[in-house]
Amino acid sequence: MKKIILDVDPGHDDAVAIMFAAASNEIDILGITCVAGNSILENTTQNALKICSFIDRTDINIYAGSNKPLKRKLVTASHVHGENGLEHSGDEIIIPNKYKLQEKDAVDFIVDSCMQNKGITLCPTGPLTNIAKAILKEPHIVNNINEIVFMGGAAMTLGNITPAAEFNIYVDPHAANIVFNSQIPLVMMGLDVTHKVLVDDTITNDILSIGNKSSKLFRDLINFYSIFHKEKYNTTSSPLHDPCVIGYILNNKLFSGKKANLIVEENSELTMGKTVVDWLEVSTRTKNCLVVNDVDSDNFFKLLKDKFSLLP
Ligand code: BDR
Ligand code: CA
Repeated sequence: MKKIILDVDPGHDDAVAIMFAAASNEIDILGITCVAGNSILENTTQNALKICSFIDRTDINIYAGSNKPLKRKLVTASHVHGENGLEHSGDEIIIPNKYKLQEKDAVDFIVDSCMQNKGITLCPTGPLTNIAKAILKEPHIVNNINEIVFMGGAAMTLGNITPAAEFNIYVDPHAANIVFNSQIPLVMMGLDVTHKVLVDDTITNDILSIGNKSSKLFRDLINFYSIFHKEKYNTTSSPLHDPCVIGYILNNKLFSGKKANLIVEENSELTMGKTVVDWLEVSTRTKNCLVVNDVDSDNFFKLLKDKFSLLP
């Protein structure tokens, strides 16, 4: 079983990633840590509690982390995920009274978990603020972490929040550089690959055919999430970014890419948060990251459906 910490900012695709991981008995979720990103921290924590409540996994401990990036002002994505970060067309999800956030801070949870266990995989699907703070607080954790598989960045693709930058990295580029320079093995699930994992009505209906309440929530989440992509890009499909991280944890053979140097622009306002990837090996900088750029998306969605059929 792979021990992971999910570091999230739910977010529709984060929510699907949580459900995907929770359904997989190959994965041991040590805890879910939340960060401000798609919405403010108050919302991302509530949304994580809601998703775990919905799938009857109130045994999963949830921790609140950073409410703002290290140096910059928080930018949210309410234009994609709605004002509360997880608007959808289904019934409101009720969190049981006794299911509360843990008192421990997310950063302390990450530090303590990584000091006590060797071989944890960190799975960030939001801005990297919590992970960077954990590294700054206890640099020794870098030797114990198996790898960081993160959703963020764009190597050869244009940005989705500015022409140059992907949202998660743009929100906290300084945190990203701390993580990328940490020498922890990195796997980047950037827009290069997540834009090949496209969810449309055919896929949504296929998952809905499972007939459980989680498949209905999937439909309700994707219905809202796809409004932005339909209106902005006049397309019938939307990239399912964050679940790619869990897909990789479950079966990395579905994905391909190559090792390259990865560094983030943190000075220029024009290209702030751009992931500069040395794909053509034109520098002598160390190859610090497996940059994923392709995926077998048919089998990815097959795996997602298999796991969703195990949920309530
Ligand atoms: C990333 O930004 C967020 O809106 C999504 O949850 C995903 O993590 C995609 O750029
Ligand atoms: Ca996210």
